[in-house]
Amino acid sequence: MAKDIGIDLGTSTTNIFIKDRGIVLSEPSVVAVNTNTGKPIAVGTAAERMIGRTPPSISTVRPVRKGAIADFETAEFMLRYFLAKACGLSINFGSTRMILSVPTKISEVEQLAVLEAAKSSCRKPAKAVPRLIEEPLASAIGADLPLTAENAEGSMIVDVGGGTTEVAVISMGSIIVGDSVTVGGEDFDAQVVNYMRNEHNLLIGEETAETVKIKAGCVFPQMQEKYIDVYGRDMITGLPGNVRVQSSELIEPFRDPAIQIVECVKSVLDGLPPEISADIVRNGITMAGGGSLLAGLPEFLRTETNVPVKVADGAQYCTAEGIGRCLSDLSLRQLLNAGRSA
Ligand SMILES: Nc1ncnc2c1ncn2[C@@H]1O[C@H](COP(=O)(O)OP(=O)(O)OP(=O)(O)O)[C@@H](O)[C@H]1O
Ligand SMILES: [Mg+2]
Repeated sequence: MAKDIGIDLGTSTTNIFIKDRGIVLSEPSVVAVNTNTGKPIAVGTAAERMIGRTPPSISTVRPVRKGAIADFETAEFMLRYFLAKACGLSINFGSTRMILSVPTKISEVEQLAVLEAAKSSCRKPAKAVPRLIEEPLASAIGADLPLTAENAEGSMIVDVGGGTTEVAVISMGSIIVGDSVTVGGEDFDAQVVNYMRNEHNLLIGEETAETVKIKAGCVFPQMQEKYIDVYGRDMITGLPGNVRVQSSELIEPFRDPAIQIVECVKSVLDGLPPEISADIVRNGITMAGGGSLLAGLPEFLRTETNVPVKVADGAQYCTAEGIGRCLSDLSLRQLLNAGRSA
């Protein structure tokens, strides 16, 4: 087991960072379970491929919902599997330092569940020392925002994940104001499913909806219209069917989740100390998380707030990168005293 491990246990994706090696694993947070025996039969990428295609004897489970552990046993199994895969058989005789990211709004009980799952998924639980960091703080570090205690400059991070959007204004290494909303990439997928059913009488699965969103979806008019053939079951004939969809059709169905994200950002911008407001207008808002890659979301946010918006490099990996930097950098770890420990 490696000595220092960072875990971004996300609703959609789990990323594992190992000190001196970087991000060594990035897999869907999914487990396929045999419903007769209750035993897991596939984890991560292999399990995700089964979603919507399983026989009655198998079900696919997403043990993390809206950023918190919803199914403890399955989450623990998944973490153990991912850690074994990421760390190999290397043995560490000392203690294992672990940092895990959690949403800012999770309860004490939910925090304990994450700490407990991390500890027990290690080969030597007694030697594991897990700590928690708030996800937007980790993402801000990974996105290279100015965060040192000496740097008294306000910056804003908006992390759009699969299940949650976390918004935080950070200055001198601490979150000054923050808010979050349980809206993320999955809600846009759900809108694609509803839209295809209501407007095109086509029933489609989760995976197809996500592909449509990634390949053709947008929340703001784009220079170039994109087209995608969407396959599913025709509700009228009951037979397999397909429909060609273009990007601009999805702007309207995407409006509701996009507005909820924007309202959350506005609620944080509203009432900031004037100097911090000035810093944010000057430096812009930084977006992170896989959901920030949805076409037009940064433009929509800029139009609605009148503040420049940029998407961080490697947006999906900012949280894991940020956790990783905390593992290596003592000064960053000291900034994270607010982070909770086991
Ligand atoms: N190119 C893309 N365009 C649009 N959406 C994308 C793209 N790439 C990834 N996504 C979406 O990003 C989401 C996953 O993002 P991320 O990995 O940051 O979430 P997470 O950390 O697992 O979730 P959370 O932080 O809410 O617990 C998914 O909904 C996925 O569909
Ligand atoms: Mg996340």
